[in-house]
Amino acid sequence: MQRRDFIRLVGGGLLVGAGFGQTGCTTVKVASTEAWQGPAAKQDNRLRWLSYALLAPNPHNIQPWLVDLRAQPDELTLYVDKQRLLPATDPYSRQIVIGHGTFIELLVMAAGADGFASEVVLFPDGEFGANAVDGRPLARLTFRRSAQAVSDPLFAQVLLRRTNRMPFDVQRPVPKEKLDAIVLAAQRPAMQIGATLEIGQVNKLRSRAAAAWMAEQQTDAAVMETLQMLRVGQQEIEAHRDGLTVTGIVPEFAAAIGLFRRDAPPAPGSMASERMRDSVVPLANSAMGWIWQVTRGNSRSQQVEAGRAFVRMQLAATQCGVALHPMSQALQEYPEMREQFLGLHRDLGTDPQRDTIQMLARIGYAPDTAPAPRRKLSDLIRSAT
Ligand SMILES: Cc1cc2nc3c(=O)[nH]c(=O)nc-3n(C[C@H](O)[C@H](O)[C@H](O)COP(=O)(O)O)c2cc1C
Repeated sequence: MQRRDFIRLVGGGLLVGAGFGQTGCTTVKVASTEAWQGPAAKQDNRLRWLSYALLAPNPHNIQPWLVDLRAQPDELTLYVDKQRLLPATDPYSRQIVIGHGTFIELLVMAAGADGFASEVVLFPDGEFGANAVDGRPLARLTFRRSAQAVSDPLFAQVLLRRTNRMPFDVQRPVPKEKLDAIVLAAQRPAMQIGATLEIGQVNKLRSRAAAAWMAEQQTDAAVMETLQMLRVGQQEIEAHRDGLTVTGIVPEFAAAIGLFRRDAPPAPGSMASERMRDSVVPLANSAMGWIWQVTRGNSRSQQVEAGRAFVRMQLAATQCGVALHPMSQALQEYPEMREQFLGLHRDLGTDPQRDTIQMLARIGYAPDTAPAPRRKLSDLIRSAT
């Protein structure tokens, strides 16, 4: 088989998804996904709750969390792992901070389910600047056993939640009551949630998401960042336990013999580049509805809030049997995306000077998808107690 044909198969068959991390449905029980079985029964409380938190959705599945357990037995401090940033697609680490909000929300839920109330102090030594994260703590959490601790019904969905990058069923509309339930679950302070099932607006956003993906495909640094987060085949997945997974005989074989390259963007006009570019269009075009989150301003605390609201939304969708898949390209702040970024603000009627669109996700029905890998909890802990 010729190189071109391999690339065609790889590009056409498996490089799908906004970030094209199509997870193969493996039935083998593997270490990289064992976190989805839940924590071992007997464990330090904080480790037990952290075992749920690390299942949080996060950009490119980079898992940018660092936890320090040393200060007090009922406390933990959360930091950004500065080795795990996405400078090309997320130049100001807005999405990385959102990915800490999702983590905090699951941590608080897990503690609540065990009868502990959490006090969350964001940025105890001051907020990061607008342009970059730094070494100060992102949050300090203190836990206290309390009769008032709330066991959140969404907690039951934590082990079942998946980001689903399959095309959605275009014959199956999402009922309005389900959309309303998802929106309701995401209510957090100062967070505006928008949502639509109306076909005219759904189509407009389908086109926007597709156009933004195309723009990303013309931006070498962004393409490279995604290529470098691809984990092709079980061996790579087990070695890294992060990133966007690609499984299947063809890509694994192609990678093994050096035909699926991730050290350079595909040449413009090549079949691989066309296939990559086109791989996400069917996903955008099968959106049966859209949900978005907007904050007035863009402080770091608002980004954390956006993460907390987002994971609640995805858990509520899981509870309703609806797939909810973020498509973040048009929200990204690098110059090559500017036209689509402003276009999305026009589509949603928001003001780019004042408002920040923190998340945009398509919703619909899709077959189940496999869980994404997670690193070992011990890899996130700065230093054991
Ligand atoms: C801020 C943020 C942005 C994201 N953007 C995208 C995206 O553009 N495309 C996509 O396929 N997934 C996106 N995701 C989902 C992550 O890729 C996903 O959470 C991660 O791969 C782990 O998979 P899981 O959610 O199934 O555990 C995003 C998640 C977050 C928190």
